[in-house]
Amino acid sequence: MEKYILSLDQGTTSSRAILFNKEGEIVHVAQKEFTQIFPKPGWVEHNASEIWGSILAVIASVMSESNVKPEQIAGVGITNQRETAVVWDKETGLPIYNAIVWQSRQTSGICDELRAKGYNELFRDKTGLLIDAYFSGTKVKWILDNVEGAREKADQGKLLFGTIDTWLVWKLSGGQAHVTDYSNASRTLMYNIYDLKWDEELLEILSVPKSMLPEVRPSSEVYAHTIDYHFFGQEVPIAGIAGDQQAALFGQACFSEGMAKNTYGTGCFMLMNTGEKAVKSDNGLLTTLAWGVDGKVEYALEGSIFVAGSAIQWLRDGLRMLKNAADSESYASKVDSTEGVYVVPAFVGLGTPYWDSDVRGAVFGLTRGTSKEHFVRATLESLAYQTRDVLSAMEADSGIELKALRVDGGAVKNDFLMSFQSDILNVPVERPKVNETTALGAAYLAGLAVGYWESREDIAKQWAVDRAFEPKMDSDKREELYSGWKRAVHATMAFK
Ligand code: G3P
Repeated sequence: MEKYILSLDQGTTSSRAILFNKEGEIVHVAQKEFTQIFPKPGWVEHNASEIWGSILAVIASVMSESNVKPEQIAGVGITNQRETAVVWDKETGLPIYNAIVWQSRQTSGICDELRAKGYNELFRDKTGLLIDAYFSGTKVKWILDNVEGAREKADQGKLLFGTIDTWLVWKLSGGQAHVTDYSNASRTLMYNIYDLKWDEELLEILSVPKSMLPEVRPSSEVYAHTIDYHFFGQEVPIAGIAGDQQAALFGQACFSEGMAKNTYGTGCFMLMNTGEKAVKSDNGLLTTLAWGVDGKVEYALEGSIFVAGSAIQWLRDGLRMLKNAADSESYASKVDSTEGVYVVPAFVGLGTPYWDSDVRGAVFGLTRGTSKEHFVRATLESLAYQTRDVLSAMEADSGIELKALRVDGGAVKNDFLMSFQSDILNVPVERPKVNETTALGAAYLAGLAVGYWESREDIAKQWAVDRAFEPKMDSDKREELYSGWKRAVHATMAFK
């Protein structure tokens, strides 16, 4: 009986269940979108119970549509939108507030206060992160401070916190396991990535009781089993957990120091494996845990761009310039350039390397001759420019000049974008055959734990290129375009 690994990829806008076979190929995919809640400008929330429902729905669809039997599932891997914070009641299993999403800015006031008290260096030295509303810590504090009765209940040990991985494992296991992995813990602003412990001093500053926090475990091991009524009568091992960006690094087989990938999802995240050494950044990058596998933890440097694919969604849904996101490629290719138009999609502030929560988006260089094609092209180009900002920071911090960039995520199907990306970076861009590298990474982590795959060397052999985009732009042109972007960003930041 052939066996498979089931990967659950709980992303910012949809939940997916993907079945993989031994060759690391996709056998079947089921996907379900869920509600995005915007209670106030800049706030983004999800209903964690709806997320759980969407996961049950995609499990049911992938199993029934693929005709794979539950007993053929060797293990389940979980990967998730990171940082998004859920607080729930231990007894009822019900969230006490919506999940506060990574993109949400509702805790920027708390962050301002913490920075004003001079805590930035302390958090950076312990967590590898900086004080920003992006990370979970201030989101948990906000929930405890703002939901009636929450703080008392938390102090009595009646509430649990988790990022989405923790929430899903807890639900899938019927409340048996309250766990997370190193990669997710390292995004909370509460976890010491050097001592590998929840940090008492930071918890005190954030007023978060330790009793709420999950146990932190390696990224590849059996944490619990699914309870049979969630899995068609089977108890399947839940055997892998990683935050989606770290999972993508694993799925791209970036196992050696200096290898990097860039994922174009809702946002865009570039991670470089730095091996067993944590590299501190002087250029606005984050130092983060990549994973714990084979009895050791490895680190990564990360550049986080908050708006990438969501800028294309904005063209489609907000401005109604596109019927489908995929049409952006043909519009952009109809013109030779943007004729000087720059779109800076700072809808929720700017991440690496600027870290400015208060800045908002802007468009520059409009003329009477500006058409939809120019506008669409400028929006796509903004993804490539932001990636160059990140890559420059990464090369400066790591001292490693990148030879090639492995890419994945929805937008890499866009050949125009990939080719422009390669031009602007002056680095070859490699798109792999399996584009679902986030889900694949979680599958690999689970498969390694249950002996479905033998070793990372085995996995690395499965990585294959679909297309490599080589840089063709001359350097004067490249630098002229990029300097326009820099001017646009600085002008945007000046307008607050
Ligand atoms: O840090 C946020 C990131 O994990 C979200 O990823 O793929 O949902 O944009 P994605």
